[in-house]
Amino acid sequence: MNLKGRNFLTLKDYTPEEIVYLLDLAADLKAKKKNGELHEYYKGKNIALIFEKTSTRTRCAFEVAAHDLGMGSTYLEPASSQIGKKESIADTARVLGRMYDGIEYRGFGQEIVEELAKDAGVPVWNGLTNEYHPTQMLADMLTIREHFGGLKGIRLVYMGDARYNMGNSLMIACAKLGMHFTACTNKKYFPNEALVKQCREYAEKSGGTIVLTEDVESATKNVDVVYTDVWVSMGEPDEVWEERIHDLTPYKVTKQVMRNAGQNAIFLHCLPAFHDLNTKIGKGIGEKFQISDMEVTDEVFESAQSKVFEEAENRMHTIKAVMVATLGEPGKE
Ligand code: CP
Ligand code: NVA
Repeated sequence: MNLKGRNFLTLKDYTPEEIVYLLDLAADLKAKKKNGELHEYYKGKNIALIFEKTSTRTRCAFEVAAHDLGMGSTYLEPASSQIGKKESIADTARVLGRMYDGIEYRGFGQEIVEELAKDAGVPVWNGLTNEYHPTQMLADMLTIREHFGGLKGIRLVYMGDARYNMGNSLMIACAKLGMHFTACTNKKYFPNEALVKQCREYAEKSGGTIVLTEDVESATKNVDVVYTDVWVSMGEPDEVWEERIHDLTPYKVTKQVMRNAGQNAIFLHCLPAFHDLNTKIGKGIGEKFQISDMEVTDEVFESAQSKVFEEAENRMHTIKAVMVATLGEPGKE
């Protein structure tokens, strides 16, 4: 397997074998880190991190991973760069491609990261777009694999807005890896038909399945993984909160959902999560709509079944694997 020079824009571009290879590489790098084995493979290299939306995990994962690999990194936030205001994506790509060995991009439409990749001449990594969040998928799959010992046949239910980056990406990842994916939500929030069709084709080859349903009881019965995400994503207008709370409250991950899934099920969330009112936005929305949580109850979030912090840690190990694979593994030509 040699992924040197490849971009990492969506898992649609990667075969199941390539995805598993990235997970194996991440597991290996995680073991090295835990054992205190230095892996500064890329001394003298540098990466650029473009963030047009905010981030804690993705930014820190890229920065720590780059540092562990001996690389320098530059963080570009929307306010401090010319991107999109005074300089086009194509021009930015050609400038950064001459200075850096790899570029991470987090922002809006997938077409922006595609354009960046077209002109950069160095690997471009998608750190989240409206449509996809592929580095998150590797962390999620690694977490599931660590917990259950494998991925094939795992039943994962996603509750919430299944049309956006997380719903789309989980459906792709599960379909490619022979897992059983269910989007359990109000039908307004089902993923788009073209993507469902494409994922059903992947699933046919891998032995996975795709189900879209509004029925919580049957969708969550005896599943292995219950997954949710915020109801309103970055970049969406505040006006949609009311409708989302109305439409998606029946799909909140509660103790009853976890009980129905069974005691061996785990709960995952890409984070950040609204599980209490201890955030500025959470408090504001909570007071306005008289609620104390949103997509997941605090009880579930804090329970032993919740593996969200293991999952968050795995962002770093898996992002490191993506960089190692696409910058070229030492000793591999
Ligand atoms: N899960 C995730 O991408 O988190 P950040 O938005 O903090 O990067
Ligand atoms: N759907 C969320 C994911 C955050 C990691 C968002 O786009 O804001």
